[in-house]
This record gives sequence, structure tokens and C-alpha cells, in this order.
Amino acid sequence: MVVNVLLIGDGAREHIIAERLAEDSNVYAIMSRKNPGISGIAKSVRICNLKDKEAVRSAIESFSISFDVGFVSPDAVLAAGITDLLLEMNISAASPTQSAARIEWDKSFARNLMYENKIDGLPEFNVITDKKEITDYLNILNNNAVIKPIGLTGGKGVKIIGEHLNPNEAIGYATELLERDGSVLIEEKLDGEEFTLQAFSDGKHISLMPPVQDHKRLYDGDKGPNTGGMGSYSTGKILPFLEQSDLATATKILSDAIWSMSKEDVPFKGILYGQFMATKKGVKVIEFNSRFGDPEVMNVLSLLDGSLSDIFMSIADDSLVNATFMDKSTLVKYFVPKGYPKNPDKDSPVSIDLKGINQTGARLYFASVYEQSGKIYTTSSRTAALVSVADNLDDAYNTIEDAQKYISGNLFSRTDIGTKQLIQKRIDHMKLLRGGMQNE
Ligand code: GLY
Repeated sequence: MVVNVLLIGDGAREHIIAERLAEDSNVYAIMSRKNPGISGIAKSVRICNLKDKEAVRSAIESFSISFDVGFVSPDAVLAAGITDLLLEMNISAASPTQSAARIEWDKSFARNLMYENKIDGLPEFNVITDKKEITDYLNILNNNAVIKPIGLTGGKGVKIIGEHLNPNEAIGYATELLERDGSVLIEEKLDGEEFTLQAFSDGKHISLMPPVQDHKRLYDGDKGPNTGGMGSYSTGKILPFLEQSDLATATKILSDAIWSMSKEDVPFKGILYGQFMATKKGVKVIEFNSRFGDPEVMNVLSLLDGSLSDIFMSIADDSLVNATFMDKSTLVKYFVPKGYPKNPDKDSPVSIDLKGINQTGARLYFASVYEQSGKIYTTSSRTAALVSVADNLDDAYNTIEDAQKYISGNLFSRTDIGTKQLIQKRIDHMKLLRGGMQNE
């Protein structure tokens, strides 16, 4: 059955969601800026402020369509309660309500949920509301600490002592956040390798997606400032530096989080994203997100074997179907304006030969760009992502190398994501940590 799906969002993440939905359904999209990829796929689009409920309500009404399911994608839009608006308008939703999305937009809620429900993987943490406690808690942790804003950060607000801050700067930064937000989260700093595990959930059950590793730092070798994510890879059912037991623990954590939310009467329907770290003391939770990861969505949806619309319908109907994925490797590489994230070259023209890219076997997804007089321009955020799927990561890497010749502009990208050298570094790091544990 061809269904009518309402999609809210406008980045590369939503471009691939739209592409997969459009395989067997009619997609109607509401965006804050016209994404050329999404508008080329959707039956009809509307542009408005996605966090403004009344503007979104008018946009939905203006379609004069009976929607079978709606999907609200970006974190800030979920936090603004736009899924609740859909439900008020009698549109079934495959995304979390504002109170369920709290698992992402309120880090103290997420940590307390884990603590109160004895969910595995909880690092040492303290939600601090009194300035005087900042120094005491940093001393307790021997300054081996991470300072996290309570709310949404766009991937850029978390700062680590020894990497982004010295201990004095950490006190200043934590104080600044506390004064701004009323509280600040301080946690023990973990040593290990991060990975992403995402699951579809209908509020009770989960269906897992393949694990992915994202790369948040701007430069090769994981140097430079944090970004929204510069690229990611996956290698089938497991990542090369993980053990099966790590995945089993992460799966149980996602499942326990869903169970705890349901028990607390805030059932989580949508995509639960676990940002995990494999450490010598086992798997720890860095954070939960209430949406697909970006870039990770492009790894997993490129492998999805079946209908995304069916999965969304089953989430909305509380009858989750099992999602299946091809057992292949994937690589995603983001292109960003030079100077990103601090001083991006925005409003700069970009030339993209989609036909050439498609001939290499890669796919291109537009992120934050705009079109004027038939030309595409950068904004201050990420520009576009290339994605390739192959039997192994080397082949996926070579396809991206071919495809990137068809993109030109004042853009920057990392060159080391998915390379043997970087992956070996991850494997060696985990071997060292796990070996260290045996000798303790
Ligand atoms: N890949 C990081 C995020 O989506 O938050």
C-alpha cells in the first residue's frame, strides 16, 4: 500500500530518510530551508520555522492531505514538541513526544533514568546546581572530567579537561553553563573507543541497526575542534575494535532504557540512539539521543533491506516489525565549508555533478545548502555527504575517492576516515585497554 508520510527536517539525514521513504510512499516535507535533494523527491514541500508550532500546524493544514504517519527528525524540533503537535492533529507518529525526547534534551534526566533503573554503563556523574560544588567535584574526579551542558549542544558543547580545557578553564566553563542553564553535568572522563548503536522502538520493543563509528573531530588523526560529525563507517554486524559482548551490553542498555521510559509512563517511540564507549571497564553510555545520528543514518539506511515506511507505520501502530540490513561495509564522508565550524566560508558557490557521482556508485546527500538562480551555496554548517556501500571498507573508500572529483567549491573534508591505518589505531587502542585489565 502506498502511504502518505509527513517528514519534518531538512538536512542530509532527512534527505536519505526521504529517499528511502519515497521508494514506496508519497513523501510530503516541511523544512526550514529548501533542501534541493528533499524537494526533488517529495510530492510537495513547505518552508517554515520548524520549532514554531503554529507555523508547522499551518504548513501541515496547507497540504490538505490525510497523512498515514509523520516523522519529526531533528533534535531541536523534537524538543520543541512537534511530534505532540502531530498527535494533536490526529497524525500517528513514528518519532518521540517532547517528554520522551527528554532523554536527549535533558542530560540530567537521562543520567537519573539510568541511575534510578540501575541501567548498566553509567559513568560517575554529578548534576551540579551550586557553584561551590564545581571545584569539589572536579577534585573528587582528580580533574579527570568532562563538562557537559544539560541541554542540546549540536555536538559542540561538551568539553574535556586535558583536551579542550585546563582545570582552571574547566571551572570557568562549568560556572558559565551553570549560570546560563541553572545546572551543569560533570562526569568522569572515559578512555576507550566510541561507537553508535541505534534502534527502532515502538515504546516496548527494539529492532537494532548495525553499529557505526562517527568521527567528531575536524581534522585527520582526530585533531581539532568538535563538529557535528565529519564522517562515519560501518563494517556489517560488528565494528573491528568491538567484541560481541560489547554489542550485547549496548543492546541491553538500549532495551533497558526503553523499558524504563515505558515504566515511567513516557514510552519512547522512534529511534533511540546510544552513543557508547567501549572501555577497559566495559561499555559506558556517553549519551542517548532521540533521533537518527547524523552522519550515522546514512550508513544504516543505505543498508536497510526493506521498507522504511513499513517500519515507521509499525512504530506508530505499536507493532514494531523487525528491520533487516545488508551485511556490507559503508563509508560516509562529509564536505564542510572551509573554516567550519568556527569561521565557515558561507554563501560560497558549490558545484556538484550528481550524474558523475551516481556513475561511481556513490550517493550524495545535501545537508545545509541553499539554491539561488540554479546554483548551490554553502551556509555556516555542513554542506553535503558522500556515501558508499561495498563488500569491504577499502572498496567503499576508493568509491568515495572517485566520487569526490565531481564536487568542487571552497570545501574541506577529512581524508583518514575508513582507512586501514585509523581502524588499526582503534583496534590497538582497545587491545591495550583490554590487555591492561587482564594484568590488573
Ligand atoms: N553523530 C552525532 C550525532 O548525531 O549526534
